[in-house]
Amino acid sequence: MGRAKVNVTLAPELREPTDFGDGHFAAGLVNVTNVCNLSCTHCFVFRADNPNKPKDKMDDATMLHQLEVLRDKHQIKSMLFMGGEPMIRKDLVMKAMPLFEHSSIVTNATYGIPSVPGHLVTVSLDGPEELSDSIRGQGVFQKVKQSVFARDATDGTTVILQMTVTKQNAPGIEEFVETVKGWPVDGIAFTFYVPTMNDQTGLGWDDLRERDDVVRRVIAVKQKYPHIVKSNVGALEMMFSDRSMEATGERGENCGIRRMLPLYMGEGGNFERPFCCYGNDVDCTRCGAYAVFNGHYKRSRGLREDED
Ligand SMILES: C[S@@+](CC[C@H](N)C(=O)[O-])C[C@H]1O[C@@H](n2cnc3c(N)ncnc32)[C@H](O)[C@@H]1O
Ligand code: SF4
Ligand code: SF4
Repeated sequence: MGRAKVNVTLAPELREPTDFGDGHFAAGLVNVTNVCNLSCTHCFVFRADNPNKPKDKMDDATMLHQLEVLRDKHQIKSMLFMGGEPMIRKDLVMKAMPLFEHSSIVTNATYGIPSVPGHLVTVSLDGPEELSDSIRGQGVFQKVKQSVFARDATDGTTVILQMTVTKQNAPGIEEFVETVKGWPVDGIAFTFYVPTMNDQTGLGWDDLRERDDVVRRVIAVKQKYPHIVKSNVGALEMMFSDRSMEATGERGENCGIRRMLPLYMGEGGNFERPFCCYGNDVDCTRCGAYAVFNGHYKRSRGLREDED
């Protein structure tokens, strides 16, 4: 007599994450995809030294599993979902956000703005229309504007517009604020360009003293619109050339951002950890990441990161 066949469906074995040691990382960042529909001139993700090949992919089940394992191993409390463009994998991001106590998204908003009540969505827009489009591509400013106006502004999602200031779009800071100040968002934030070691793009300031005037202009718009512009004056003052190294160090040794775990999508769809969230080739002495200076300012005053 033949044996009865039993159909057993085995759950597919999920790959375990790369070993990033035993460190404690209160916060992480994950590039859920290396795919992006834009090719912004200033983008650090697609720099030569980074893991960033669009063919490197991790399926949803594996990524959810690995994020959970890494969360538990490193006690990760907050996760920033990034890319490439994270909304290309919106379903995955929606499933992964509840894994963490605090989750946020940074998006180019060309696929709309996700409704994630109780969470922060940072929408990138790099100045007034002409300047932003010269960085993000023709027609992108209007698409983002449509996304901002199409969303339900009462859905409980915190939406902030973020301008990354470079030498190229710095002339548009004031016009940007005047243009978007009436939009249905929760505020406007500024961060500054993070260059590579031997940056030849012309987007950064070779001598940080040249950036000081631009920082002063951001402080001025903050003082003019204190409730709309979210940046902190104390943090912005930390960016001045005579003290910025206190927050960064020559090679990130003073930088709070280095205490985050950056998960880039690397070869074969495995997570890799670059030097910092901004990738491998970065010039810390000219770093403009607002979060670095805000973190330093708050720590120096004994404030929590979420206090002003
Ligand atoms: C790399 S993008 C990824 C998420 C999404 N695609 C977007 O554009 O928002 C995240 C943020 O980094 C900013 N960014 C890109 N390159 C930068 C650089 N070299 N220095 C500082 N910020 C940069 C972008 O403007 C954006 O606000
Ligand atoms: S949209 Fe974001 S990830 Fe894509 S190129 Fe621009 S800054 Fe980079
Ligand atoms: S580039 Fe900026 S964020 Fe990265 S380690 Fe250096 S100072 Fe920190």
